[in-house]
Amino acid sequence: MGKFNKTRIVLGVTGSISAYKAVSLLRTLVGEGAEVSVVMTAAAKQFVAPLTFEVLSKRPVYGDLFSEQDPMAHLTLTESADLLLIAPSTANTLSKSALGLADDLLSTVILAARCPIVMAPAMDGDMWNHPSVIEHTGTLRNRGVLVLDPEEGDLASGLVGKGRLPSEEVILEAVEASLARQQDWTGQRVLVSAGPTREPIDAVRFMTNGSSGKMGYAIAQAAAQRGADVVLVSGPTLLAPPANVESISVVTAEEMQQALQDRFSWATVLIMTAAVGDFRPRQVATHKIKKDEWVGEALELERTPDILAELSRQRTHQVLVGFAAETDNHIENGKQKLQKKSLDLIAINHVSGLDSAFGNETNALTVLTQSGDVLHLARMPKLLLAQRLLDIILPLTIMKKAGIQKTPNLRSL
Ligand SMILES: Cc1cc2nc3c(=O)[nH]c(=O)nc-3n(C[C@H](O)[C@H](O)[C@H](O)COP(=O)(O)O)c2cc1C
Repeated sequence: MGKFNKTRIVLGVTGSISAYKAVSLLRTLVGEGAEVSVVMTAAAKQFVAPLTFEVLSKRPVYGDLFSEQDPMAHLTLTESADLLLIAPSTANTLSKSALGLADDLLSTVILAARCPIVMAPAMDGDMWNHPSVIEHTGTLRNRGVLVLDPEEGDLASGLVGKGRLPSEEVILEAVEASLARQQDWTGQRVLVSAGPTREPIDAVRFMTNGSSGKMGYAIAQAAAQRGADVVLVSGPTLLAPPANVESISVVTAEEMQQALQDRFSWATVLIMTAAVGDFRPRQVATHKIKKDEWVGEALELERTPDILAELSRQRTHQVLVGFAAETDNHIENGKQKLQKKSLDLIAINHVSGLDSAFGNETNALTVLTQSGDVLHLARMPKLLLAQRLLDIILPLTIMKKAGIQKTPNLRSL
């Protein structure tokens, strides 16, 4: 049985002088059991005949966006694919992908792909160092595309520099790493809470906070992509539930508590990203309170249930991950919450200033564990941050299952 047995890979080949190396790459992938469909750009066909790929992959080669045989190939090709690999990727295809351009089959496939993407660029050194290519590479990496660095060495131009297609060994390693991450959460049952809660004041008014739910949705999405069964309990947000996630909508803190309580014994991991309101009005008017009724009236508040503390008391086998939104004394306040609620890990959001986590597409987190480790996750898109968090949480679940108390040293991650 090969290393890539039954793995479905779409291999995009573009118009680089190194396109011939994709032939050997295809042979290796197929030899290791992968089912590979090849998509070639028009420029790629100037370098290698499609027939070569057709014979080696034992499948038709795709190249025409408006093909009569399969006009929906731009969507269907990656629908069931485990990975989209572009090797070699020209500067042109790389830059088009960053810009979201879709003017041929391969660029449309890249834009439509929901599976992980690995890109192995090959180009002249000056092209690789061009500010535009540097910027587009950064954009793609930020979005989660694994763009490899080209290798140093002799270039087709006769010059020596950085631009050669990464070696087959490196490309295969990247493919393997991307695939391994994909299903490493299989068997885990993940309960995620997300978004704000709303506490009614009267028939039309309510108390809430600025949480957008994006971090929790990103975690739910990433965990589902990596094979976990995921239930997302969400307060009111504008977000669409991620694919393959069971989504439960709630409004108040009490409803959120009930929904989480119902699923808690099922879960192996609880990730509590929701910004649950701490207070609610003691009295809720069933009608809309008139302006005049308010004069001089104070809004009397009472505490909402502390959901995480309560679930922590009931835990049997679950790994508990909390989030803290802090405006100051981040580490100190985070540590206190970690201890008080007996969490395995706490991720601290910084919610003051322009860089506030609330509503932003990107976020930075400080992660603390029971064993005193402190890890700073730099500002990055929330989906990538979610992936990093899952990388950190997974060993905790394995250790918990094995009955090992000490959490791993995160500094080594
Ligand atoms: C002989 C030759 C070699 C080329 N090699 C490369 C290359 O290695 N990398 C690259 O980015 N472009 C290279 N190009 C330019 C691309 O073929 C050109 O930008 C083309 O538009 C790429 O189209 P595609 O991205 O759709 O395949 C080469 C062009 C020629 C004529």
